Parts: sequence; structure tokens; C-alpha cells
Amino acid sequence: MKATAMAPSNIAFIKYWGKVDEGLRLPANGSLSVNLSGLTTKTTVEFSERYQKDEVLINNKIDSKKTERVIKHLDLIRKKAGIKKKAKVVSVNNFPMAAGLASSASGFAALTLAGSKAAGLNLPEKELSILARIGSGSACRSIPPGFVEWMEGGDETSFAKTIFPANYWDIAIITVIVSTGEKTTGSTLGMELAKTSPFFKTRLSLIKQKLEKIKKIIKEKKFCEFGKLVEEEALELHAIMLTSKPSLIYWTPKTLEIMRFTHMMRKEKLEVYFTIDAGPHIYLICPNKDKEKVIDKLKSIKEIEIIVNEPANGAKLIQDHLF
Ligand code: PMV
Repeated sequence: MKATAMAPSNIAFIKYWGKVDEGLRLPANGSLSVNLSGLTTKTTVEFSERYQKDEVLINNKIDSKKTERVIKHLDLIRKKAGIKKKAKVVSVNNFPMAAGLASSASGFAALTLAGSKAAGLNLPEKELSILARIGSGSACRSIPPGFVEWMEGGDETSFAKTIFPANYWDIAIITVIVSTGEKTTGSTLGMELAKTSPFFKTRLSLIKQKLEKIKKIIKEKKFCEFGKLVEEEALELHAIMLTSKPSLIYWTPKTLEIMRFTHMMRKEKLEVYFTIDAGPHIYLICPNKDKEKVIDKLKSIKEIEIIVNEPANGAKLIQDHLF
């Protein structure tokens, strides 16, 4: 059978950084994110006797490292479904992968949904989220819709669920791509290094409080408090990265330029805050009504590209197959 799924990427307000189990990708802490409307992956999977081996095409390219990780995931799906057939997988992102934007979240969420359906499984959201998590941690957060929390826990209890629907809060998330094609240290290696930071233990000891605080702030829609906490959290994540041994420096001069520019926009009374993942790009968050003003201000900055997002739904099956 053949199935196609579309899944959004997501951006974490409280970040996942560090694991307690490598293989199962169990996080050292809970995290919270929102799905992004402008960054999506579409994936078609077909299991058939016709295929002698698994064929994987991502953005029209064959990449042996990516293929290996996809096959590992297909093996998990085959085991769950009790089938042995090989598969063809075709996947495309609607954003440039070379830009170094995280694509594993949307990629593994789409692969999990399309793959399990194509294998004849009809998994509930929780099971899909657990399976996506094993493929790539943050992918579990791209399964449910809207604002999502991923709980820490064991294999059966660490999954993501919606805490507020996508239309709960009218905010905009502007992805600012500051460089292209740059290779950075992947999150798997980066997370292994987290425990070498002298500040990691402190971060973990305070993170539950932070999660409770942000949920309350989102519930009450207090944008200014929300933005401050999100920005503090991104800087804390990068403090762990910067103080890991060896040190991980994801920022470029352009990243710093946009960080300072964000502070300047705030001085000019625009409520806009940033967050940053394991890369040089920046995500600016503002009330949706101020989006145009922020976009207009960004026009003065050279050599950047922007993608405008709003909170989005999670992974879904679609009829429009890629082959
Ligand atoms: O799931 P991964 O391996 O792509 O790791 C994601 C790590 C961060 O993006 C830095 C934080 C997060 O919670 O998304």
C-alpha cells in the first residue's frame, strides 16, 4: 500500500537538549514547541514485493547517511506491522535543506505517519508520537497540532501532546535564515556533549519550574512575559553549548547582528523576541498584528532570507502522492 503524509517543522520555546537514553531518544527534560506553517515536509511511502531493497529519495537526492537512518525507521515500522516488504520513500521539503534549517522534525514526523499507514497500521496520535521520537527526538512534537508539550519519561510515557490548538494564540514566527550551506555540529553529537557543561545540572534542576511557568503564561496570553522567557531559554541553551567541551559555537556574526537588532526593535516599542536552535538561524516571535512592521524593519539587513510562519496543525495524511 502507498500513503503520503505532510508534517510541519516545529520551534521549541523550551528546548530539548540532552538525552537519558540514546537509542530510544528519551529526553533529559520536557520541552514545549509550536508547529510552523511555513516549513513542511511531504513524504510518500510504499511497501511492495516489487522492491528488491529500500529506495530513499530525499529532495531528489540519494544520501547514504540519511538513507541509513530512514531504513532504521522503516525497520521499526515493519516490525510493528509484522511485514517484511521493502519500501520506496520519496520526500520533499518546501524549504531549502542546504540552508541548514532543521528538517529532521518534519521529516521523521511525515515518515512515521506515511510509513505506518502504508504498512497497514492505524496508529493513534500517542503511538505515532512515540514512534516519531525514536526516529528523531523533536519529530514527536510535529505529530499533534498546535502548541505542544513533549513529556520526559520512559518509552511509553515520553510523547508529545497538544496543550493549546494552533488558533489559540495569534502570533507570528519569522524564520530568519542567516547563512546558506553551512555545516554545523548535529544535534545528536551536540547533546552528548551537553553533560560536559558545568551548567547542565543547574539547567535541569530548574527546567520543570520553567515549563510550568511558560504554560501559565501561554494560557494567559501574556506576550511580553512569554517573549522574555523564550529568549532567556534560547540564551541558556546556547550557554550550555558554548560551555560544552569541546565548545559548540553555532552563532555567526549575522546571528549576533539579528539578536542585537531584535533588542533595538524592542527599544522602539515593537514586541519582538528571538529564539535559536542548534544552528546560526534565528526565529523572531511577535504578535501577528506586528508581523508586517517586523518584516519591514528586517529589510534593512543584508544577506538574509525570511520565512513567515503561524502556529500550525500537526502531521496529516494527504492524497497527493509523490510517485
Ligand atoms: O530532535 P533533534 O535531534 O533535531 O534536536 C532538536 C534540538 C533543538 O532544536 C536545539 C531543540 C528543540 O527542542 O527542538
